[in-house]
Amino acid sequence: MDCRNLSHSTTEIPSDVRPKYEAITALTDAFCKRHLNEEYAEMCRRLTVALAQKQPTPLVRGRAEVWACGIVRTIGWANMLDDPEQSPYMKLIAIDPEFGVAESTDQAKSMAIRRMFGIGRLNVNWTLPSRLGDNPLVWKVEVNGMLVDIRQESRERQETAFQKGLIPYIPADREQPADDQRQKPQDPPIHALEGDLFGTLFGFHKKVMVLLRAANLPDDKLGVVSERIDHLLREVTEEIKSTKDLNIQPRLDARYEMVQRLVDELVKLGSIRDQMEQIYSKTPSADIPWNIDLPPKALVELIEAGQVQPCKTIDLGCGTGNYGIYLASLGFDVTGVDISPSALALAEANAKQKGVACRFLVADILGGLPEIAETFEFAYDWSLLHHVFPLDRKRHASRY
Ligand SMILES: C[S@@+](CC[C@H](N)C(=O)[O-])C[C@H]1O[C@@H](n2cnc3c(N)ncnc32)[C@H](O)[C@@H]1O
Repeated sequence: MDCRNLSHSTTEIPSDVRPKYEAITALTDAFCKRHLNEEYAEMCRRLTVALAQKQPTPLVRGRAEVWACGIVRTIGWANMLDDPEQSPYMKLIAIDPEFGVAESTDQAKSMAIRRMFGIGRLNVNWTLPSRLGDNPLVWKVEVNGMLVDIRQESRERQETAFQKGLIPYIPADREQPADDQRQKPQDPPIHALEGDLFGTLFGFHKKVMVLLRAANLPDDKLGVVSERIDHLLREVTEEIKSTKDLNIQPRLDARYEMVQRLVDELVKLGSIRDQMEQIYSKTPSADIPWNIDLPPKALVELIEAGQVQPCKTIDLGCGTGNYGIYLASLGFDVTGVDISPSALALAEANAKQKGVACRFLVADILGGLPEIAETFEFAYDWSLLHHVFPLDRKRHASRY
């Protein structure tokens, strides 16, 4: 990544998406002016440009307010806007009402945006410029095969790294306040740190267990939390590797808070059926992030290569039925199954509107599907597996 190339160009926004781009940036600008600052506004504009330039751009679908809200939440999340020690500080859930968007819609939109661009916390591309200096990952550069903190290297090396676009500015050029010049305390010996490391990790797991026991989440939600914890711990490991900083207590504390927030949100959401019902019945269908007419490339390639011929097909977790309808339009005999009756009402209307015959059935795919007596030659799901508890996935997949 070229760290110097952080500005964005609006000149390459296709003309058909420009009005939507302008409507969204007007909203994010106004929000940032009211609650945040110009730097946030600029970063939101940059993300909007990236979305507008995507091929095909997802911006054409859904309300500008939902996009603006998702964009602000994404940039806020990436920059820890909800950390009370930050300035500006704002709870992420306080963003939604400002745009008149439901919390679940905004969460889903932000998650979709983060997936599209691989946006994580500490991601250099999406860190506010004023925070770049605090982000240790920005300054890790390979010199003669060794990963070093370029801020500790000679000015000459810093210049070379800057010229190669590896760092956003030459650290030696930035005046350091006198306090920063004070000598740092000596690092503790490595064996003491290792002991701390295990103790800290143990403490983290213990706290998480207490949290989960109290929350008493159903299996599918536990799966989501367990995946998230795996991911967060991998993130911490990567940070340790790249920064060689073994002080993991503050990192784990921050991760614990994230797990805590996720658990709170999941407790509030209720069962997967309630959650999906809420989304499908309350969100305009154009704003449901995964409701995309265009079938996924992987499916199209499979069909176009003739690897699967028209046959009796089951679309598991079919949502609004887009891909079952696509297959049915090619002569497949499709049954779509979903846990949400509201999703299937939309799927029925969708099929009717497109003049395609499909059968839709309300069922929980983890319940053994007693509702279905037939057998199928092709079982298909898209974006369903992440709703299934990891330990149940093998069992679920082997049933088909
Ligand atoms: C992310 S959406 C994907 C929908 C659709 N496959 C698509 O790509 O547009 C996941 C779908 O799985 C459904 N779902 C989740 N858990 C389910 C379960 N246990 N049984 C049946 N459907 C489920 C949800 O209601 C939702 O419609």
